[in-house]
Amino acid sequence: MKPDWIIYFFIFISEGSKRIITKNLVPGIKVYDEKLINIENPFRSKLAALVIKVSSITIKKNYNVLYLGAANGTTPSHVSDIVADGTVFAVEFSPRAMKDLINVASSRMNLVPILSDASNQKNYQNMVPSVNLIYQDVAQRDQAGFAVRNAEFYLK
Ligand SMILES: C[S@@+](CC[C@H](N)C(=O)[O-])C[C@H]1O[C@@H](n2cnc3c(N)ncnc32)[C@H](O)[C@@H]1O
Repeated sequence: MKPDWIIYFFIFISEGSKRIITKNLVPGIKVYDEKLINIENPFRSKLAALVIKVSSITIKKNYNVLYLGAANGTTPSHVSDIVADGTVFAVEFSPRAMKDLINVASSRMNLVPILSDASNQKNYQNMVPSVNLIYQDVAQRDQAGFAVRNAEFYLK
């Protein structure tokens, strides 16, 4: 049987190199000048669950993604990291959240913030091309309808 501590050990594979990392008992605090890494939790993050658990859907580096319900840009920033050679079109209808999203996008050339209502897919048709993937997180009563209409309109 594996000792408990081993579940806190991960192998981080980056650009071909393997590194050992440990879960920080005091998140955000450094002991020496070590690098701190944020790990997306698949039990909390829908994006992490998609990447880790859904093997039939891959997100490729050159994908264009339509992101509906971008909020302040937290998860969209991770999607922008993943599709480094593609573009994330991030739709959000709250002006308050958009302010933060614009800040996040200002340092990310592949993140396009769009202040618009995702319930009508035609609202942003002049800004969004056909895409490889739609990621939706709007928490609305008709969210399935949003997904279907946007998919019919924008998915390649
Ligand atoms: C759960 S939050 C999204 C969190 C974000 N996906 C993340 O992980 O960082 C849902 C967001 O959807 C936005 N939203 C809800 N209805 C929307 C609509 N019809 N059009 C655009 N955005 C909408 C809300 O303003 C809110 O910011």
